[in-house]
Amino acid sequence: MKIKHYLSKTWSLLILLPFYLSAQTMTNVHGRKVQVLNGRWNAIIDQYAQGRKNEIYLNKKPEGKTEFYEYAFKHGLRLNVPADWNSQAPELKYYEGTVWYAREFDSQRQAGKRHFLYFGAVNYRCRIYLNGEQLGEHEGGFTPFQFEVTDKLLEKDNFLAVEVDNSRSPHAIPAMAFDWWNYGGITRDVFLIETPELFIEDYFIRLDKHLPDHIDAEIKLSQPVAGARINLRIPELRINQTLRTDAQGKAQLTFKVEKLQRWSPAAPKRYEVVVAHAGEEISEEMAFRNLWVKGEDIFLNGEPIFLKATSFHEEIPQRQGRAFSEADAVMLLSEAKALGCNMIRLAHYPQNEHTVRLAEKMGFLLWQEIPIWQGINFDNTKTKEKAQGMIREMVGRDKNRGAIAFWGVANETQPSPSRNSFLLDLIAQCKSIDSTRLIIAAFDLVKFDRQRQLFVMDDPFVKELDVVAVNKYLGWYHPWPVSPDRSLWEVARGQPLIISEFGGEALYGQTGKADMISSWSEDYQARLYADNLEMFKHIPNLRGTAPWILFDFRSPFRFHPSNQEGWNRKGLVSDQGHRKKAWYLMKSYYESIP
Ligand code: GCU
Repeated sequence: MKIKHYLSKTWSLLILLPFYLSAQTMTNVHGRKVQVLNGRWNAIIDQYAQGRKNEIYLNKKPEGKTEFYEYAFKHGLRLNVPADWNSQAPELKYYEGTVWYAREFDSQRQAGKRHFLYFGAVNYRCRIYLNGEQLGEHEGGFTPFQFEVTDKLLEKDNFLAVEVDNSRSPHAIPAMAFDWWNYGGITRDVFLIETPELFIEDYFIRLDKHLPDHIDAEIKLSQPVAGARINLRIPELRINQTLRTDAQGKAQLTFKVEKLQRWSPAAPKRYEVVVAHAGEEISEEMAFRNLWVKGEDIFLNGEPIFLKATSFHEEIPQRQGRAFSEADAVMLLSEAKALGCNMIRLAHYPQNEHTVRLAEKMGFLLWQEIPIWQGINFDNTKTKEKAQGMIREMVGRDKNRGAIAFWGVANETQPSPSRNSFLLDLIAQCKSIDSTRLIIAAFDLVKFDRQRQLFVMDDPFVKELDVVAVNKYLGWYHPWPVSPDRSLWEVARGQPLIISEFGGEALYGQTGKADMISSWSEDYQARLYADNLEMFKHIPNLRGTAPWILFDFRSPFRFHPSNQEGWNRKGLVSDQGHRKKAWYLMKSYYESIP
């Protein structure tokens, strides 16, 4: 049996065992009592995925004179958690396969408390073992998961092992090839969460979609207890409501608020919201705003808005590694603020909570998406189940983030009946959890119709979306069919349209030859931007733009030996943090829009 076949068999075997599946994470993990398990962990590179067969998660020590083990976790490779492994050791830069992480920890076990192991994200699939017992497994590299460990914790020396495999698969999301680095590892925070026996498991608190002074609150306890008293407070608005749970342990209330200052990028006002039950109290800052689409306009708090957006990957270019901390979020978001943006497309996968929460605090609308990126296997039911799980985990985690305007369900998919039904299920999944947000997807299907001398797009699926996004690289992948000032668009009329990707590559410091695409010069890139900004004047339903991309980023198939060196150079900012000439054009364009 080929090793790959063996590998895929063991993972798929696991997926069949439902009790192994990880649980949806409780809401607002950051507002709870947590023991942080970040730090330097021990690691073993398991290139032939033999560790599980050899049960190395038992962490056996040789006894007597005749025992020996061909592994030990201590005194070997050490890896930072959170972080990708690729950026931590030269031999791991291109590594795709299995790496074991392990650490020991003590815990303050208390009667009447429950404990959960929480992972912010592990790319791409993993199995979690505690004290020699497998807790379960998770697939999907960008959303959180948790396992209850209440009855499995020791006071001392708990041994936690995590088997991580980032190898690509045709049934995965993303699939076999994608334009970003396949960073593997425990890439986000790891916490041991402590809760009361009966705790506040979930809530969704938001302003009504249209009314400026009605708040809808749904709150759920961890067990189906009827009649429990839940207290909801927003001190600054002098809100102090009591709710009673139903037989499912759920409570729902809509109430009016006076003098609510709605959140906006220009005035990102947030309110402390406190949810309390029987001595437990969790709180967080929340943004309340109204967001809807009418005709070709997007309305924020009743006013039409133009989205001055940009995108970035979850990567710190100078470190050539995944972004994972609040400090990383400060770096990425400060550059977007300097450019004059009011929205970020967090490409192409749900990014970490530090970035999402800081973006809300700084005043950015957000587009969060799952990595349905180009060649996904839309005919495979397991792939659809994985996508639905990723939607559940993404929307579940961030539904209380008022800054999030869009859930994105796809990037550059090609029309087909199976694609349509796959995406319709994802849209239904989004709306079943959160009916308030706008649904978006990006397409690369705009063509120039020579007959009509118009840019057009033919994909009826766009009618299923609230806002239509188009990626179009005129001046880069596509030569101009007509001059920019004669580039008229008739795309998705009757709906708001966003140009979600445009741009071209430039190596910082390479100048001249503004008319030669192969120059990879800043001057060519600046000229390309000027041409696209001119074209934007001729798109009647344009309601937003997002240059691709804010920073140069790592990509394994950007081969050019001097211009790229494994980097996609479409950044307005170089991998060393230098702003290219096009950055200044984009900034003045955004300044020119009221
Ligand atoms: C595509 C894709 C991006 C990619 C970009 C490029 O539109 O959405 O993920 O990086 O093109 O080719 O640079």
